[in-house]
Amino acid sequence: MEVPRPTQELFTDEAVNMKALKAKAFNFRWAEVPDGVIPLTAADPDFPVAKEIVQAITDYIADGYFSYIPHTGLPEFKQSIATYLNHYKNEYVDPALVLPIDSAARGMYIIAKTVLKPGDEAIIFDPVDYLFRESTLAAGAVPVLYPTKVAGDRIDLSHIGDYITPKTKMICLCNPHNPLGMVYPKEDLDALLKLANKHDLWIMNDEIWSDIVYGERPFTSILSLGAHRNRKTLSVFGFSKSFGIAGLRAGCLYAHEPEIFKLLLENAEVRTTAGGISSLSQIAGMACLDKSRYWVEAFIEHLTANRDYGCQRINAMPGVSCRTPQATYLFFVNIKETGFSSEELANRLRDEAKLAVVPGTARFFGPGADGYIRICFSTSHAILKEGLDRLENWLNTNRR
Ligand SMILES: Cc1ncc(COP(=O)(O)O)c(C=O)c1O
Repeated sequence: MEVPRPTQELFTDEAVNMKALKAKAFNFRWAEVPDGVIPLTAADPDFPVAKEIVQAITDYIADGYFSYIPHTGLPEFKQSIATYLNHYKNEYVDPALVLPIDSAARGMYIIAKTVLKPGDEAIIFDPVDYLFRESTLAAGAVPVLYPTKVAGDRIDLSHIGDYITPKTKMICLCNPHNPLGMVYPKEDLDALLKLANKHDLWIMNDEIWSDIVYGERPFTSILSLGAHRNRKTLSVFGFSKSFGIAGLRAGCLYAHEPEIFKLLLENAEVRTTAGGISSLSQIAGMACLDKSRYWVEAFIEHLTANRDYGCQRINAMPGVSCRTPQATYLFFVNIKETGFSSEELANRLRDEAKLAVVPGTARFFGPGADGYIRICFSTSHAILKEGLDRLENWLNTNRR
C-alpha cells in the first residue's frame, strides 16, 4: 500500500515538543496539570503526528476554500476507511455503509440512540471506558454491568448470558479492551456472536484500539467472522489512539445492511448539517489511513519497548502489580495491597509525587475498577522513566 520510510527518529526523547503539549494537550494532560506534574493520564500520544498528515492539511487549506462538503462524508474518505479495515482487519466493510463522523465517541452515541429505547437494557463490561455507559444513559436506556474478570490470558465471558433479560437489546464490546489492555480471541468472539444472535441482540463494536496491538495475540475483529453473522453489529473506529489526531475529532461508524445504515444516518443529524465531521478532519483521516501506517508500525515498536520496561518496573514496586497489556498503551495497575483507595492514591501521587494518573473510579470505568489506577505509556522513554521513578519513590516512602 505504501513505501516504508526510515522511522528511527520519530519516537525519541527529543521528539516530544513540551511547549506544544503545554499549550495544546488538554483532557487531564499537559495543558491542564500544574507545572512540574507529569500526566500519564488520557490515552493520547505525546509525539507529533506523521508528517504526511500535516502535509495533507497544508495542501488542502492552500486555496482558501472551506465550502460545505457531502453530508454523509467525502466518498474518498469512506473508501479509504473500507480499504484500510478490509486490508488490515479482514472486516468486509462496504464504503457505502460507512459514516465518517466527528469522533468515535459520537459514533457510540449515535449507535446507542439508534437501537435503544428508554427502559431497554445494554450489557456493559465493568470495568470499561465510561463512554459505553454514558452513551447508553443518553439514549434513556439502562446499563447492566457485567463484572469482568480475567481468566488466564483472556477476558472471562462465561457468565455473560446470565445478564440477558427480556429487556436486553445490546451488548457493548470494546475490542481491544480499555482499560484491561486485552484482545479477544476468535473463539470468544464467535461465542459472543452466537449468544447475541440467539437473543437477537445488537452489538456495539468499538475497535478504536485495534491498531495498537502487540505480538502475542493478533487482533481479530468480530466482523471477520462474516458480514452475514454481523447483521446487527454496529462498529466504531477512530483516529485518536493510532494516529494522534484527537483534537481534530474524527471517527467513523459502519454497518452491514443498507436498511440499518439508513437508521444510523437518521440518528446522526448529518442530513440537517447540525452534526458531522469537518472537511479538514476527513483530509487528515485519509492521510492517516492512506499514508501513515508506517508511523503506526514504528509507534508500536516504541510502545512495545515502553510496555516491557514499564511492566517490569511496576511489578518490582511495593504493593502494586500489572499484567502485560496485549493491546493499548495503558497499564491497569492493581494497587489493592497499598491499602489506599484509587482516588486517594491518584490524588496523593498528583500532589506529592507530581505524577498524574487516572484513578480506577466508577466515573471513568465502572465500580469494577476499584483498587486500580490506569497509567498511559504513549510517551517518550525519558518521561515514562521519570514518571515511574516518581511512583516508585512515593510508594517506597508511603506504605500503609
Ligand atoms: C474504548 C474507547 N472508545 C472510544 C474512545 C473515544 O475516542 P474519540 O477520541 O475518537 O472520541 C476512547 C478514547 O479514549 C476509547 O478508549
